[in-house]
Amino acid sequence: MHPTRLIRRGLLLLSFLAIPLTFFVQCGPPPQPEGQQESASEPNSETPLEMSAETSPEDGGFPPESCPSPQTPCVGGCKDLKTNPQHCGKCNNACANNEICLDGACLSSVACPTGTTRCADACIDLQTSSLHCGACNNACPAQTTCKQGLCSCPSGKLLCLAECVDPQNNARHCGKCNNACPTGQICQQATCLCPDQQVLCGDQCVDTQSNTDHCGKCGEKCPTQCLNGRCGCPTGQTDCNSQCINTQTNAQHCGKCGGTCPTGATCVSGKCTCPTGQTDCNGACVDLKTDSNHCNACGNRCTGGNACQNGVCTCPTGTTKCGTSCVNLTNNASHCSACNAKCPTSQVCANSKCGCPTGRTLCGTNTTCLDLQTDFDHCGTCNNKCATGQACVAGKCGDPCGTTVSYATNIQSILNSRCIGCHSGNTPSGGLSLEAAKSFGSLTTGKSTCSNKTFVVSGNAAQSYVVEKVESATPTCGARMPRGGTLTTAEITMIKNWICQGAKNN
Ligand code: HEC
Repeated sequence: MHPTRLIRRGLLLLSFLAIPLTFFVQCGPPPQPEGQQESASEPNSETPLEMSAETSPEDGGFPPESCPSPQTPCVGGCKDLKTNPQHCGKCNNACANNEICLDGACLSSVACPTGTTRCADACIDLQTSSLHCGACNNACPAQTTCKQGLCSCPSGKLLCLAECVDPQNNARHCGKCNNACPTGQICQQATCLCPDQQVLCGDQCVDTQSNTDHCGKCGEKCPTQCLNGRCGCPTGQTDCNSQCINTQTNAQHCGKCGGTCPTGATCVSGKCTCPTGQTDCNGACVDLKTDSNHCNACGNRCTGGNACQNGVCTCPTGTTKCGTSCVNLTNNASHCSACNAKCPTSQVCANSKCGCPTGRTLCGTNTTCLDLQTDFDHCGTCNNKCATGQACVAGKCGDPCGTTVSYATNIQSILNSRCIGCHSGNTPSGGLSLEAAKSFGSLTTGKSTCSNKTFVVSGNAAQSYVVEKVESATPTCGARMPRGGTLTTAEITMIKNWICQGAKNN
């Protein structure tokens, strides 16, 4: 070591031991301790560590009335006179700039006494300081104390996750740190166990006295309940299909298992009971006064439109009893205005009078209602008879097949505008081409592949499948044509007339 350093060290040591010498030395140039320059921070720094524990200074110039130990009331707040360099030993006794306060005495900041270490402004015994245990600022967790530079728990306890625990009975740290007991288990004498009265079944602590999955012993399942370690139902209840049931009150099991009560009934003292005013008829609670299937007595049915009123089968208002049936005399064709007053065939009863339905007429003394739109003998008006060969169409005598139709002009133009969108090309819909060059052949020689019916039966529109396809909403096969629409009545009549006239290629 360099001689001048040795000298400075010597002087430094002396300055601790002899106060007058210290004065003498400090008159010369201030000694600069080389090895300690880093740690020798300003003793008057703004927030010295030991200051931070003190109560904040109060304004007003009066010392506080009392202070928490080990602080003392000083003007400006509570101060720890043992360590506060502004109030070292007594209030307002400030240490010099390069001094620190240790045990109430100002000391040169450059070195700490043997056995202590400089932590910020204080000389600390790292072996025992709980704020600086083993190293500066290594504070010990709550409950621990610093022993030989190590944060230690009171005897018998372990430091686990910054907490002192008793490994004898701590379920999270059983026997050792982080040895957690399975859910439901407790830690006793450093061993994970099930609580009293409980048994470990698989990984679960269960009470085999009451657990339905482990009744009496592990794995013993009960269909009903587990009582005192035995499967069964409590007193007063019966095992019905693995359910504990009170057969005195349960409407599904009244009196015995499966003894189902009628709808609406309740189970009273083990007997099915219908509500007041109702009777049990073969498993149903009914009101014999109003129930048409059980009028006055179980099974006594009211028939012929009769309803049960006050236990008597009676015809409802607006109806009259004719024989055994209740009928409305205003519109019943068999009993029009009076029982058994029957209307002639084809007539109906309206407002208690026999007559023809809308669109039909009586001619002369004939009692049959006629359709004058189509009736050959009474076409348009009564007694207007059509000539031989004629037909009555829309109330007029005329050619039964209508005016002459041209296939090329009339029929093909319908097909062109309404059908060939789908029925043309190489793969026409339904395999049926209705293009001009092919349509006549397709229709007059072909058959439906789907219904096997003939498309056109010459002279008979009613038998022709093509008419059925355009006229019926539900043809034998597939949908009405054209798909997604309908032809007009005039267009359909045109096709029918063409067939009626012999389905010619004209
Ligand atoms: C939007 C397409 C479409 C239009 C337009 C259309 N059809 Fe069809 N047609 C079909 C399809 C698809 C089928 C096969 C399925 C069925 O029978 O419903 C079919 C089947 C038919 C069949 C039966 C074929 C068989 O072998 O059973 C006839 C007949 C027919 N159409 C006539 C017509 C006529 C006549 C028109 C015009 C008035 C017409 N279709 C317009 C799509 C159409």
